[in-house]
Amino acid sequence: MSHGLIPPHGGTLVNQVADGARRDELVKEAAGLTRIDLSPKQSCDCEMIAIGAFSPLKGFMGKADFESVCKGMKLASGDIWPIPITLSTDEGKAKAGDRVALYAPNGTLQAVMSVEEVYAHDTKLESTIFFNNPSDDDGKHPGAEAVKKEGPVCLAGPIEAVEVCVDPDGPEAFLDFRLTPAQTRAEFANRGWKTVGAFQTRNPIHRAHEYLCKCTQEITDGLLIHPLVGETKPGDIPADVRMDCYQALIKEYFVPERTLLSVMPAAMRYAGPREAILHALVRKNYGVTHFIVGRDHAGVGSYYGTYDAQNIFNGLDEDNLEIEPLKFEHAAFSKKAQGMVSGKTFPKLEGDQIFLSGTKVREMLGNGERPPGEFTRPEVADILITWAKNA
Ligand code: ADX
Repeated sequence: MSHGLIPPHGGTLVNQVADGARRDELVKEAAGLTRIDLSPKQSCDCEMIAIGAFSPLKGFMGKADFESVCKGMKLASGDIWPIPITLSTDEGKAKAGDRVALYAPNGTLQAVMSVEEVYAHDTKLESTIFFNNPSDDDGKHPGAEAVKKEGPVCLAGPIEAVEVCVDPDGPEAFLDFRLTPAQTRAEFANRGWKTVGAFQTRNPIHRAHEYLCKCTQEITDGLLIHPLVGETKPGDIPADVRMDCYQALIKEYFVPERTLLSVMPAAMRYAGPREAILHALVRKNYGVTHFIVGRDHAGVGSYYGTYDAQNIFNGLDEDNLEIEPLKFEHAAFSKKAQGMVSGKTFPKLEGDQIFLSGTKVREMLGNGERPPGEFTRPEVADILITWAKNA
């Protein structure tokens, strides 16, 4: 598998997917095991662990990792890790030494887990990861509120997945684009890419996004457009609509030999700076060497400063991180420069940059109006207009 690309986080690419006879054995065993119903987020996490995207994790975290991650952004092993990956549930479901069967929200058997530890879920501690200061917690942060409602105990231990994509016939399976880290690595090797930039997104690509992607392409062998398609918050644009936008944009405005589109089946946490680190580490597992971090990466509301998600990388051990964050300032189209600019490349002039708020864009799309081409490409706008009409 190694072809000189960046090593996975922790050194070894995890593969917790059972196949063949082992899979048959697990399916049989699961019928007699206690059933644990996963939330959408837990189900996404389960897939991310199984395929090695969360390497070095082989299962859901134990207490030592949980506390070390919440308090110091490291696993107990010392590897950087910013966000707990927990399997919280009701009390009394399992004890250490048990094996349990994990079911996806649609009822599909997803994995079997060896429970090594059961511990109280400190939701108060976990919710602190979303804020720069505890006083910023106004009871409205979508990530923190979701954590506060999670179960009171956590089950920890390795999993073995019997199903990778739990809804292969669903609208958000994207089987042709659901490459595992081993598969993206193989594809990069196949294409002869030594340096690869990755673009994380949970939105349709607008011109600023495209600009970040293209700047990255200028300095790397290839670009991985890697939208997150796991659980997002209500109000975010559905992944299947976004995928249509990405494909239309790539077809018309990118060089196919230099661009790879693949999906990341992770859930959004909206944890801003900490999530930017997670997004980078995961991309390192996918074989990526350079990771785009723009303005307010993985942010929500006004909980984070515009560049908090960039600055957080400054304190990290680069040898352990390995993947290089590419930090981009706020970008927009300048009428005077007749192109995309940022504060680093063009002076700020009154009224020069074309900026539209999300609300304004939604309003225009709802009215069947294309936002200006300097903001969104027409091919993307048309897909969004059709979606807005039926939404
Ligand atoms: S995110 O939750 O995945 O961060 P989004 O899909 O909007 O949301 O952003 C994808 C990436 O583009 C992030 O790195 C974000 O910081 C960056 N970004 C979005 N808009 C801009 C912009 N106008 N200028 C610079 N970077 C941007």
